[in-house]
Amino acid sequence: MSKTMLFSPGPVMVREDVRQTLTHYDICHRSPEFEEMFADTQEKILRLFGADQSYYSVIVSGSGTSANETCLSSLFREGEAVLAIHNGMFGERLIEIIDKYRVPMVDCGFPWSVYPDVKRIDELLAAHPEVKVVAMVFHETSTGMINPVHEVGRLCEKHGKLLFVDCVSAGGGEFIDVVGNNIAVCTSVGGKCLGAFPGSAYVCARKSLFESLTAQQCKNVYLSLYKHYQSAVSSRQTPNTPNVNLFWPLNRALTNLLETETLAGRIERYRRCASIIREGLRVMGLRMLLEEHLSNTVTSVFLPGGVDAAAFIAAMEKKGYTFYIGKGDYAKQGMIQVANMGEIYERDCRGMLDAFRATLAEMGGS
Ligand SMILES: Cc1ncc(COP(=O)(O)O)c(C=O)c1O
Repeated sequence: MSKTMLFSPGPVMVREDVRQTLTHYDICHRSPEFEEMFADTQEKILRLFGADQSYYSVIVSGSGTSANETCLSSLFREGEAVLAIHNGMFGERLIEIIDKYRVPMVDCGFPWSVYPDVKRIDELLAAHPEVKVVAMVFHETSTGMINPVHEVGRLCEKHGKLLFVDCVSAGGGEFIDVVGNNIAVCTSVGGKCLGAFPGSAYVCARKSLFESLTAQQCKNVYLSLYKHYQSAVSSRQTPNTPNVNLFWPLNRALTNLLETETLAGRIERYRRCASIIREGLRVMGLRMLLEEHLSNTVTSVFLPGGVDAAAFIAAMEKKGYTFYIGKGDYAKQGMIQVANMGEIYERDCRGMLDAFRATLAEMGGS
C-alpha cells in the first residue's frame, strides 16, 4: 500500500491486518467496548516492556514527543531537579521539554554519538542531591546508538533516583526490561518498531510513581500524567477524546508482535535485517557512524565524498525506497540513515541494497 518502502525510522511499513483495522466500525470512547479494548492494550504494553504487576500503563493520543512531554511536565514538584543525559538530537529534545517547564536541570551532555561515561553520571548524582529523576534516551535514533540504560539503572538504585527513559524508537525493537533495568517510567509509540501508525504513544511506569502524582504538580492540561492515570484506573478511559480509530491498529500491532511473532522473534528479525544492511553497505566500502553499541533498527552511514546526500535520497525515492538524511551536521557530512522497522524482511533489505549499489554507481560514487 505504500508508494515506496519505508526504510525510515518511522512512520514504518505496517502489516495488512493492522491497516485493515482502520475500517473498524466507529465506537464511542465512553463505551464498554472501548474500555475492554483499552484494558487489553494496557496489558499488552506492559508485556512489551517486560513489566510485572507493579507497573501500569496509560495511552496518550499523540506522537512520541507527547508521551515524553506528559512525563517530563508531570513528574516534578517545586525544587525537584532532573539530571539529563544526552548524546544526540532526541536527548536534546528532552532538554527542550525540561527547559520549557523550567525544571531545574543538571546537564550531563556528551557529544553526539559518544557513549555516555557512566563514571561521570555517578559523580554528578553524588554531587546533586536535589535530583529526583534521571532522564535519558534508550535508543538515540539520530545516531543509532543504544545508551547504557542498565548501568544508569544501577546508579539510580545506588543514589535513590527515579529513571525516566525515552524508549520511543526502542519499544518492540530492543528488550527494554523495565524491572531488570530499574526503569521507573518510560515511553514509546505505535508508529516505529511496533509496526502500527503514528499518533499513538504510551507510558509505562511503576504504580507507586503513578500513585504519588498530584494534579497540581502536572503542568500541562492535556498532557497530564495524573489525569491519564486517574481516567485509566477509574474507568479504563482517557481524560479527553482520544484517537479512538488508532487504538485498533495499536492493539492489533501489539498482538502481532507479542502473540504471532513474539518479542524475541521480532527482535531477532530486526537484528538479521540490520546485519544484512550493515554487511551490504560495508561491502560497498561505506563508513558507518558507529562500530559498537548499535541498535537493531537504525544504521547511520556516510556516502562517498562527492555524492550529495539529499540528491542520493531523492534518487532512491524514485526507485521506491525512502531513507532519512542525517540530522544536524551529519547531513553536511553526507550521512544518511537506513532503518529496518516494521514490515521489512531480509529479501526487502537485499532488494534495497541492490538499488543502493546501482544508485551509487549512477552518481559516480563507486
Ligand atoms: C528517541 C526518540 N524520541 C523522541 C522522538 C520524537 O517522536 P515524535 O516525532 O513521534 O514526536 C523520536 C522520533 O523519532 C525518537 O526517535
